[in-house]
Amino acid sequence: MKRVTILVLLLTCLSGSALAADVVTIKASNGNITFNHKAHQGRVPCTACHKDATPTRLQLNRDFAHHLCRGCHEIRGGNAPVKCDACHRK
Ligand code: HEC
Ligand code: HEC
Ligand code: HEC
Repeated sequence: MKRVTILVLLLTCLSGSALAADVVTIKASNGNITFNHKAHQGRVPCTACHKDATPTRLQLNRDFAHHLCRGCHEIRGGNAPVKCDACHRK
C-alpha cells in the first residue's frame, strides 16, 4: 500500500515537471520577475494565462503582464503581490 502511494506521488511529480519549468525568470530592466508555476498550481488553471490547448511560451510585455498578473493579484489579495518591488527584484 505504501509503495503504491509513493509511486503515485513520484509519477505526479514527474508529469508535473515535464509540462512546465517550476520557476521561470522573466527579464525586466527594472528588476527581473521570478514566476513560480508551483505557487499558482491548484489556484489558477493553466488557461488563465495560456490560451492555447498545449501551453508554450507566453508573449509578455509590460502592459499585458501588468494587466494579467497584477490584475488578478489585486482581485485575489492574500499572498499575491501587487507592489512593484514584490515582483521586480534587483
Ligand atoms: C499565472 C499564469 C500562468 C499559469 C496559471 C500557468 N503558466 Fe505556464 N507560463 C507562465 C509564464 C509567465 C511563463 C514564462 C513566459 C516566458 O518567458 O515565455 C510560462 C511558461 C510555460 C511553458 C514554457 C516555458 C517553460 O520554461 O516551461 C510551459 C510549457 C507552461 N508554461 C505550461 C503551463 C502549464 C501546463 C500550466 C498549468 C498547469 C501553466 N503553464 C500555468 C504563466 C503561467
Ligand atoms: C488568475 C490569477 C493569477 C494570475 C493571472 C497570476 N497570479 Fe500570481 N498569484 C496568484 C495567487 C492567488 C497568488 C498567491 C499564492 C499564495 O497564496 O501563495 C499568487 C502569487 C504570486 C507570487 C508570490 C508567490 C511566489 O511565487 O513567490 C508571485 C511572485 C506571482 N504570483 C507572480 C505572478 C506573475 C509574474 C504573473 C503573470 C505572469 C502572475 N503571478 C499571474 C494569482 C495569479
Ligand atoms: C505581479 C507582478 C508585477 C508587479 C506587481 C509589477 N510588475 Fe512590472 N512587470 C511585470 C512583468 C511580468 C513584466 C513583463 C516583463 C516582460 O516580459 O517584458 C513587467 C514589466 C515592467 C516594465 C518594463 C520593463 C522592461 O524591461 O521593458 C516596467 C518599467 C515595470 N514593469 C514597472 C513596474 C512598476 C513601476 C510597478 C509598480 C507600480 C510594477 N512594474 C509592478 C510584473 C509586475
